[in-house]
Amino acid sequence: IAELAKELKANLKQIPDFPSPGILFEDFLPIFTKPDLFQKLVNAFKLHVGDQKVDYVVGLESRGFLFGPTLALALNAGFVPVRKPGKLPGDVHQVEFQKEYGSDKFEMQKGVIPEGAKVLIVDDILATGGSAYGAGELVKLNKGDIVEYLFVLELDFLKGRDRLGKPVFTLLSGQPEKLSN
Ligand code: PRP
Ligand code: MG
Repeated sequence: IAELAKELKANLKQIPDFPSPGILFEDFLPIFTKPDLFQKLVNAFKLHVGDQKVDYVVGLESRGFLFGPTLALALNAGFVPVRKPGKLPGDVHQVEFQKEYGSDKFEMQKGVIPEGAKVLIVDDILATGGSAYGAGELVKLNKGDIVEYLFVLELDFLKGRDRLGKPVFTLLSGQPEKLSN
């Protein structure tokens, strides 16, 4: 996995001052332009999951949608989206969570996960952990059982993992300028 993470890291692109001045943005989209890298990303997560039982992969809008469904297929699990408010049809659970600046809302359809189902929550980046925390609360409202949270990158100095209360696995971790694994 360390080997795979190293190769993925080499293919991240750093964009200074995006989305606002002073922020160094880690762009992981280049991974998806190359099928061998995309495959390696999925393989790395699959290798990590090993023989843990997983019934559903829950992906966070938007960037968790880029690889969540592919990972779900690789694990022979279902895929369930967590979406920004007002996008999902039917009865939904809604949660409000704190992000770095202000609060945000996420929704999940009611009953989409059967009680006790084993769930992985996946996203691109763990920053303050607000988004992942919100997704976790939605899984709990549906009485799913969170196995673990998976991310490509973790900005570890923001201590997002401390908010999650379940195992957290990230391929890369550190400051944007010097990510390690
Ligand atoms: C970004 C990123 C994570 C989240 C991490 O998403 O993709 O989902 O922020 O931050 P946190 O740990 O502080 O919650 P964003 O809300 O920018 O939207 P996007 O995925 O739709 O681009
Ligand atoms: Mg996101």
